[in-house]
Amino acid sequence: MDDDRQFPPEAQPGAAIRTAAARDLDPPVVIEVRDLSLAFDANPVLNEISFRVREGEALGILGASGVGKSTILKLILRLLVPDGGQILIDGEDINQLSFEEVLKVRQKMGMVFQASALFDSLSVYENVAFPLREHMRLREEEITQAVRQALTMVDLSMGELGARLPAELSGGQKKRVGIARAIVHEPKILLFDEPTTGLDPVTARMIVELMNRLEDELDVTAVVVSHDVRAVLEVSTEIAMLKDGQIIFYGTPEEILATTNRYVREFVD
Ligand SMILES: Nc1ncnc2c1ncn2[C@@H]1O[C@H](COP(=O)(O)OP(=O)(O)OP(=O)(O)O)[C@@H](O)[C@H]1O
Ligand SMILES: [Mg+2]
Repeated sequence: MDDDRQFPPEAQPGAAIRTAAARDLDPPVVIEVRDLSLAFDANPVLNEISFRVREGEALGILGASGVGKSTILKLILRLLVPDGGQILIDGEDINQLSFEEVLKVRQKMGMVFQASALFDSLSVYENVAFPLREHMRLREEEITQAVRQALTMVDLSMGELGARLPAELSGGQKKRVGIARAIVHEPKILLFDEPTTGLDPVTARMIVELMNRLEDELDVTAVVVSHDVRAVLEVSTEIAMLKDGQIIFYGTPEEILATTNRYVREFVD
């Protein structure tokens, strides 16, 4: 069974042929997770998982419900603290940082939450403006301009929707407002939790196209967790498959489609 396991490109035999000079040209590692472990009470969820995401890459994390996908994103945001292992953001171990330093690292990140997680009592405008008001001291004109720009990026019109409450939006519109809020402060890291789950196929398609555009235009480093295999294959440069607290497969979308690993095949098919 273990014979089918695939390892990060660095760990594969062919990688040794690459010269040190070629490796120096690789984009810098933005997110590095080392031997990360976490249990809730006595229930182990993550068991020494490791991966790296380089600048401009998008890592997709696939796995069944309850396997720990959202937990990984919460650990990267340091909303949770692991039992063991490290998370380095731009080389800084985030679990060694003070509260103020954590806030600074978090400013590099934008998170699109599983259920959009908009503030029900705030307008679309105020929802998107929230990270700016929280982290930065900007004049109202600057905020308005940034909010308009973020909404335009996700194909929403501030004039039309800015004053509405989340309850007055469709599911796809909410998702897009959630994405606008995640990108408004121009983060270098974008974290997506189930960006397409619960949407109809046409809207899901639109979100996938939007994510690809954001990854290209904003040059961000992304982590996308989902059980929507198709969406993850389309937005990721690398894919990790989680099962029983471990990464049982790691490779490119082409490699995952070609793998003979039975569990992965069942999941992908
Ligand atoms: N705060 C918590 N306290 C206790 N258990 C938790 C907590 N958060 C998550 N869990 C448990 O940890 C496991 C992983 O949860 P997680 O939300 O990361 O799964 P997931 O892969 O995102 O699932 P889904 O695809 O359904 O969103 C689950 O068994 C869940 O019940
Ligand atoms: Mg989840």
